[in-house]
This record gives sequence, structure tokens and C-alpha cells, in this order.
Amino acid sequence: MHDILHTEPVRIGDKTIDAEHDLQMQLLDSLSQALAKGGDFAPTRHILEQFIEFSDMHFLSEQLIMRLNAYPAYEAHLEEHTRLMKKVRDIRETIIHGENVSSLQLLLELRNWLLHHIATEDAAFGEFLSKKET
Ligand SMILES: [Fe+2]
Ligand SMILES: [Fe+2]
Repeated sequence: MHDILHTEPVRIGDKTIDAEHDLQMQLLDSLSQALAKGGDFAPTRHILEQFIEFSDMHFLSEQLIMRLNAYPAYEAHLEEHTRLMKKVRDIRETIIHGENVSSLQLLLELRNWLLHHIATEDAAFGEFLSKKET
């Protein structure tokens, strides 16, 4: 678990997107720390809401850049974002119901899913962008 928590997201080559990915990971780290600590639920909930808000914004901004660049894999990418946000909202339900152990497990899965998404789908888009710019 320790190792997974310190895995950095792959750089996709767009400064803004890369910085947003870092922030997503930081929020997930803070979230797992708050969850592991237990006790007062308010900080966990606050960080979770921040993660949801920020990820919605990040996905919308990625999707906008894709549309502006007529990215051919846009639809498939959009579907993945939608799936992820559904998963996040499911996790929110689990956390709200106070199941700490499964919440941490779900959070790790979410983190892995996000890292995988960045390393594959987002990286593919980054490559598409860099070819376009040259
Ligand atoms: Fe992304
Ligand atoms: Fe993405």
C-alpha cells in the first residue's frame, strides 16, 4: 500500500494537465490519510468533496481541449471519465456510511484506476497533442 501511494502519475507532456494530475493525486493522498486517521469525519468529507469538484473540472477541461483539437478518441475518453466519476460517487456513499476498511480499499482501487488512465488514455492524448503542435 505504501508503494502505491507514492507512485507518481506519468507525465503526458502538457504542463497544465500534468499539474492537475499531481493535484488529483495529492487530494487522494490526503483523503487516504484522513480516512486512516479515523475519528472526526468532517475533514475526510471535505477532502472528498474537493476531489470530486476538482476532478469534474479537470475532466471537463481535458474534454474541451480534446474537442478543440478534434481528437478522434474523444468519445471513448469521455466514457472513461464518466465511469470514473460514477465510481467516485459510489465511494462517497460507502465513506458516508462509515465503512472505513472498504473505503480505504476502494480509494486504493480508485488511485490505481486513475494512474492507469493517465498512463494510457491521457498519455495517448498527450502524444496526439505533441504531434499536432510540431
Ligand atoms: Fe487526466
Ligand atoms: Fe482523461
